[in-house]
Amino acid sequence: MNEVTVTLTVNGQAHTVTTAAQKTLLYLLRDDLHLYGTKDGCREGECGACTVLLDGRPVNACLVLAGQADGREVVTIEGLAADDRLHPLQHAFIQAGAVQCGFCTPGLILSSVALLEQHPHPDDQQIRRALTGNLCRCTGYTKIIEAVKLAAGEMAMEVEHD
Ligand code: FES
Ligand code: FES
Repeated sequence: MNEVTVTLTVNGQAHTVTTAAQKTLLYLLRDDLHLYGTKDGCREGECGACTVLLDGRPVNACLVLAGQADGREVVTIEGLAADDRLHPLQHAFIQAGAVQCGFCTPGLILSSVALLEQHPHPDDQQIRRALTGNLCRCTGYTKIIEAVKLAAGEMAMEVEHD
């Protein structure tokens, strides 16, 4: 079996993993690092359930080979809460009722993290565009958009108070 050794940072922690060369980043995270928050949906780049941040940009982990993550920085949903305090987006998704079965939620939140880094005060269209690759079959999206706006407001207030 062809193997590859990958050294990467996940949620601020360095890891070196030797794994099958054809394995995707999705399975490296789930099988080798036991980070099950990154969801295994379609495995073909259609649903966005596996979205993680790779060097700060949202990617479908099912379309990235583990070897392509060598030397890079990955953030998964497990990396967002700090000191047992939820990230404002996690909090806002709960507040707005934007979570039902929750399968899409990690991916949606990571896509939203990337959006708010680029556009701290997004309008509806920017939110819709940023989340276009993340499918949700439960919520109808309205509450998800509300949640992103709520988080943007909370984050702006945190910046003011810093
Ligand atoms: S599991 Fe990766 S996009 Fe669906
Ligand atoms: S909450 Fe169920 S798929 Fe989005």
